[in-house]
Amino acid sequence: MGIDQETFTGVDRFVEATLAPDDEALRDALDAAAAAGLPPIQVSPAQGRLLTILVRLVAARTILEFGTLGGYSTILLARGLAPGGRLYSLEVDPRHAEVARGSIERAGFGDAVQVRVGPALESLPGLEADGVGQFDLVFVDADKPNTPAYVAWALERTRPGGLIVADNVVRRGGLAEAGSGEATIEAQRRLHEELAREPRAEATTIQTVGVKGYDGFTIVRVVE
Ligand code: SAH
Ligand code: DHB
Ligand code: MG
Repeated sequence: MGIDQETFTGVDRFVEATLAPDDEALRDALDAAAAAGLPPIQVSPAQGRLLTILVRLVAARTILEFGTLGGYSTILLARGLAPGGRLYSLEVDPRHAEVARGSIERAGFGDAVQVRVGPALESLPGLEADGVGQFDLVFVDADKPNTPAYVAWALERTRPGGLIVADNVVRRGGLAEAGSGEATIEAQRRLHEELAREPRAEATTIQTVGVKGYDGFTIVRVVE
């Protein structure tokens, strides 16, 4: 076994077979997304399991997600919700949102989850107007150049002790490259610089390999 994609995939498959098994609802969500032609860029089963664990760890009752896609991560987040908890997921593409709503409903979370359609930055004022103002966990996984803006917004609205998780911050190592001129990479570097200056953020970034290749996520704990 070398340090190559085949090995990363093999290890993820083993983890899925042992610790992160799929089930009817997750298979259904992936099948519905594939049938509708959505890109297969959802979190991996192992990463999704981590999301469920983090939600339980903070006993989350209110979750915000940026980037619904077909609802795969949404279902795994919702599974960790405390009874009566709510999840708001923001999605710009109405087709993605429609597919996601079906899968979320069939997974049993039709009442707990609301998918709101529109560019996330434009959906945020509406959330506040509806009195949804404080989150226990925020998962940022939409358009990557806006990740710093989403995290900045979330920092103001995540309770002390709550978590903000941002996906796709390492980008095959691009994070280490200054002056790349690539908006997605520059944004992830800015995210780190802004978090470093933010006294209410206790944050780190973990590089990952697996079925989705080489990437990583940032976890922010909002300081009491
Ligand atoms: N969280 C999903 C994957 C999300 S992929 C999962 O792991 O299952 C990124 C999603 O963000 C896509 O569905 C894309 O349409 C959406 N997106 C892109 N730009 C957006 C924006 N400005 N506002 C909200 N969603 C956006
Ligand atoms: C890709 C992966 C993601 O996890 C995501 O949220 C968006 C895009 C990708 O590999 O292109
Ligand atoms: Mg992602």
